[in-house]
Amino acid sequence: MNITHLSAEQAAVADAVQQGLTAVSKSLPPWLFYDAAGSLLFEQITELPEYYLTRVERGIFAAHARQMLAGAAQGQRLSLWELGAGTASKTGLLLRAALEQQGRVVYHPIDVSESALAAACRQIERSLPGVQVVPHVADYTRNLVLPAAAAASPERRLVLYIGSSIGNFSPQEALALLRSVRRQLAPQDGLLLGTDLVKDEATLLAAYDDTAGVTAAFNRNILLHINRELGADFHPERFAHRVRWNAVASRMEIYLESLAAQRVRIPATGLEISFTAGETIHTENSYKFTVPGAQRLLEAAGFTLRTTWMDRRNWFGVHLAQANRAEQVRAVSGMQ
Ligand code: AVJ
Repeated sequence: MNITHLSAEQAAVADAVQQGLTAVSKSLPPWLFYDAAGSLLFEQITELPEYYLTRVERGIFAAHARQMLAGAAQGQRLSLWELGAGTASKTGLLLRAALEQQGRVVYHPIDVSESALAAACRQIERSLPGVQVVPHVADYTRNLVLPAAAAASPERRLVLYIGSSIGNFSPQEALALLRSVRRQLAPQDGLLLGTDLVKDEATLLAAYDDTAGVTAAFNRNILLHINRELGADFHPERFAHRVRWNAVASRMEIYLESLAAQRVRIPATGLEISFTAGETIHTENSYKFTVPGAQRLLEAAGFTLRTTWMDRRNWFGVHLAQANRAEQVRAVSGMQ
């Protein structure tokens, strides 16, 4: 194995591939979807008729952004902090409501991708003068550090974690992440969390297996990404896109299924991986919540749920939670 000449990016991909594809049950982490092509495919997914999540959440913001911002502010000034570089349209609705409420607003997007941050900054500064964008390059899943608030600052923070991004994490990971958010906040600061909700199975299956095949292309793109980063020789067409609703775990599961016995060489890792016909690579989980489940998660992480807004079919929930006083942060585990 020769990893000495790999870039940091390649080394991260190599690590993930080595871990995931040498295990008895093969898997790959969903962050590997998002190279340039994968990010474009995800943008296309958000516009598919079957993929209701983005549209429905945007509708909730369009209807209730003012109330959300007023509820978080309670008469104080707010600064907005977003986990992930905001994809313009949804975050824009919240920023616009913040501008109406307080005239100017400082918006801090936090993302690993410098280019995604730069694009978000340009977009927001152009369309929303009055918003001051302060980008932070960081992996919020590893070390979340929000710069300290000015001493005695009257400003409240509102952290945005929208788009059902939390759905990729296991209940334990989600709890750890929200606790790390809570640790960075002062009592009374806010968290606006967007979660997809449990619904009928046919709707869920269609959302992750669209008729145009965009989600299938997005799933297979993970293999092209590995080919490009590590010189692997995956043939994506030799893998089928498979999705399954796991009612017990309350999650959609996404797989690539090997259509034949095959071997794949991954030179940068020195690995050769064998697949039997029908063997799967688990590429993603997308957890679906209930409102009580979201409330338990938030409370276990040291927040109090103030309000949940939903669309009229109850397909998606946006939860406004408030950071508890430190002594109210209790140790609770195994929540979802
Ligand atoms: C970006 C994690 C919210 O889980 O719905 C969309 C990713 N995967 N279609 C989701 C995704 C397949 C998406 N999240």
